[in-house]
Amino acid sequence: MDKLRITGGRRLSGRVEVAGAKNAALPGLAACLLTGETVELANLPKVRDVRTMLRVLEQLGARVDASGGGRASVRVERFASHEAPYDLVKTMRASVLVLGPLLARHGRARVSLPGGCAIGERPINLHIDGLVRMGAEVRIEHGYVEARAGRLRGASIAFPEKTVTGTENLMMAATLAEGTTVLSNAAQEPEVVDLAEMLIAMGASVHGAGTDEILIEGRSAIGGARHRVIADRIEAGTYLVAGALAGDRVEVRGCGPEYLEAVLEQLRGAGVPLEVGAESVAVSAPRELRARDLRTAPYPGYPTDMQAQYIALATQASGTSVVAETIFEHRFMHVGEMVRMGADIRIEGRTAVVVGPRRLTGAQVMATDLRASAGLVLAGLVAEGVTVVDRVYHLDRGYEPMEAKLVALGAEVERIR
Ligand code: EPZ
Repeated sequence: MDKLRITGGRRLSGRVEVAGAKNAALPGLAACLLTGETVELANLPKVRDVRTMLRVLEQLGARVDASGGGRASVRVERFASHEAPYDLVKTMRASVLVLGPLLARHGRARVSLPGGCAIGERPINLHIDGLVRMGAEVRIEHGYVEARAGRLRGASIAFPEKTVTGTENLMMAATLAEGTTVLSNAAQEPEVVDLAEMLIAMGASVHGAGTDEILIEGRSAIGGARHRVIADRIEAGTYLVAGALAGDRVEVRGCGPEYLEAVLEQLRGAGVPLEVGAESVAVSAPRELRARDLRTAPYPGYPTDMQAQYIALATQASGTSVVAETIFEHRFMHVGEMVRMGADIRIEGRTAVVVGPRRLTGAQVMATDLRASAGLVLAGLVAEGVTVVDRVYHLDRGYEPMEAKLVALGAEVERIR
């Protein structure tokens, strides 16, 4: 199993180019199931989850040409299967994004229930409830969601809580439904807006994405399109934190600063100097980082996917930072490992109390999920001596090789087996 070996204490400077957003690429790929025509996607990040989603699509009958770096052309003329099997879904819960499009175009879907994961229970009841309201018959059997429908019907669906992939699944399903669907209390993430733009390019009628109410007028069919996936705001944020911890000057390029407001605001409040450009943000480490409380929230709030990275920063800030995780109940797995490196962090329910600054020392640590791994790599950058982050496959699910991007900035990081 690959590991990252980080020798801490190096200063970082230079430029880092942000990849396409994993969490926009995955629903974008699932949306290819909605048409028999060719869909071309560009700016796909070179990460494992994207490769997994391409395999899910191939299994369902898609012809995929992903030979061009960061591009894929997908055509699903006819379905070879209506099943997303356990073996694939267990490696990537976002496979559940095929449920809505499969059902809407093919009338049948059998998708393994993803089950819990390291960060929380993560049910998909809201996806299922919405599809039922649109006329689907859904049963849970043998660990699978089995869904059938004639043509789906438009419906008014008010989400009791915000769900990103739930909003995306129902938005996709609604594009082929008969009549109008209104999704209220919809997720407002930029990735939802990106998907809506792609669906519109495919000929769907979608209004209001980016607000909390999305209106979709169903069409009998939609067609092919070309779409460029937006930049990954979480990858961008991760390198901003690296720069805030150890940067002489790190420029994060191609990152869409307008989607990073909450992260930038949080960093500014911690005393991090930022230069915000049209498509880039430059950052350097201040002489002193200041503690600042944090509360994760759905967009436009501070992303839960940037919580572990912020805790790494908070270990180096003067004072006490209270970090509340409101989205996922178990998303503090990185904390125990950071404590082993010398951090002073106490967990109280869904809150982490971080007292800093503390001198961190390199240790062997274990990655448990994607963003926890990123937090540990960042801690390794400022720890004294060598940190070895084990189970880097978690990191590779959603980040283009971090060692390459960090080494280009002057860090000492290598992949070992
Ligand atoms: C998306 O997951 C992202 N994944 C996650 O990214 C991200 O952490 C999360 O949104 C929150 O921003 C993708 O976009 C592929 P939710 P998702 O449904 O859609 C509860 C990463 O590291 N809920 O918005 O699965 C749920 O348990 C990842 O890249 C229900 O109760 O998250 C959670 O508490 C990990 N029932 C809350 O809602 C449901 O049916 C929000 O989850 C659905 C969700």
